[in-house]
Amino acid sequence: MEQEANENKQVAGFSKLNKRDKIYWLAKNFLYANPVDVFKEFAEYWHDNIEAQKLLDGFSENTLTNFPVPFGLAPNFLINGKIYAIPMVTEESSVVAAASNAAKFWLDRGGFHSKVISTTKVGQVHFQYPGDPEKLFRFFNSIKDELKDGVKKITQNMEKRGGGVLDMELIAFPEEPNYYQIRAYFETVDSMGANFINSCLEEFGKLLREKIQQSVVFNDSEKSVEIIMCILSNYTPECLVRSEVFCKVSELGSFANNTISAEEFAWKFERAVRIACIDSYRATTHNKGIMNGIDSVVIATGNDFRAVESCVHTYACRSGKYTSLSNAKVENGIFKFWIEVPIAIGTVGGLTSLHPLAKRSLELMGNPNAKQLMEIIATVGLAQNFGAIRSLVTTGIQAGHMKMHLTNILAQFQANEQEEAEAKTFFSNKVVSVSAVREFLENLRGKSSIIA
Ligand code: MEV
Repeated sequence: MEQEANENKQVAGFSKLNKRDKIYWLAKNFLYANPVDVFKEFAEYWHDNIEAQKLLDGFSENTLTNFPVPFGLAPNFLINGKIYAIPMVTEESSVVAAASNAAKFWLDRGGFHSKVISTTKVGQVHFQYPGDPEKLFRFFNSIKDELKDGVKKITQNMEKRGGGVLDMELIAFPEEPNYYQIRAYFETVDSMGANFINSCLEEFGKLLREKIQQSVVFNDSEKSVEIIMCILSNYTPECLVRSEVFCKVSELGSFANNTISAEEFAWKFERAVRIACIDSYRATTHNKGIMNGIDSVVIATGNDFRAVESCVHTYACRSGKYTSLSNAKVENGIFKFWIEVPIAIGTVGGLTSLHPLAKRSLELMGNPNAKQLMEIIATVGLAQNFGAIRSLVTTGIQAGHMKMHLTNILAQFQANEQEEAEAKTFFSNKVVSVSAVREFLENLRGKSSIIA
């Protein structure tokens, strides 16, 4: 039986089916539902504009429908003296609200100060060389410039824009005999640069092998060099941006209906960041909050959030222990809070110019170049972290979450505007839960309309 079911679930040539047949096949073999109903449901999320849908379908494969995620705006971000309204794509309630609140808070306190520290990207040619390491290192140093010249046809346009291959080095790994790596460094200006870097690396690999084989320096066995793989590294610790805020402690104001003074807030806040610096369990959640902000802008601008995520977490581990990405200090009556993160993104090429909403996102931020976008993204991460810690050390996180949770539950029960207003007043000082909201609405609507 199980075997028969598994056989029905296998398919050849799925990608060649049209969209309708793909959905029907899915409905029949996995959802056990009426294919027409499933088709209707999936079709509801298609774009009305056929060309726009074609464009979206082209971003991926075997596309059945679209998966909408809210696109929100966090206004009032003062960054380096300029006001931004920042597009944020996220499905998590409270994220945009927290970023907006933090932005508004710092708007009156000098705003955010953000600066790119470095913009270097990295790529690797991994290869096997069964010979004398010293010979290889000497030879590599002698052909470095030739390797660079050998990719001129790929780099010439990038060079016109101010980028190109910066440098490269040969690295040995004693724990893996005969394995070596060319680690190459690139400047890709406003593009994320993945295709550019990978093309250069593949050419480096080919050239390296050819040159070793043509050289009289190596004996026959040493000439059997194998290129294992050529690929960029998403770890870019030298593509770094810093964002910070500071103000007098007394300017922080008072919090949670005057239950916490500015001094106590500053002390608790600094302590909360220190805890994330010393404890990896807390650091993970602390950094997750930062990534709530960072990812939502990375996604809104059509950039690769998986690349940014993997890089940021490796960076958070650079000392050998996973730690906080942000830091806080209270010194001489000044509160200072800052973040340094590697953010490898682009503002040209890829989805940034293909996805209509990514284009709009960049436009509404004044079409920033990659460095400016790095500064914006790091700032949103810092603002998000500020918002989270502010809630955590004052009211607790649930108060804000519960408000959003209430809105979602009310929507689930199709509450009308008046019911929503009454529920918000009623729950302003009570614990929100699905059953409590259900009971409230049942009472309001009369017991006859029991909500499922
Ligand atoms: C929730 O998505 C993020 C927080 O947990 C972050 C934090 O704890 O700092 C609120």
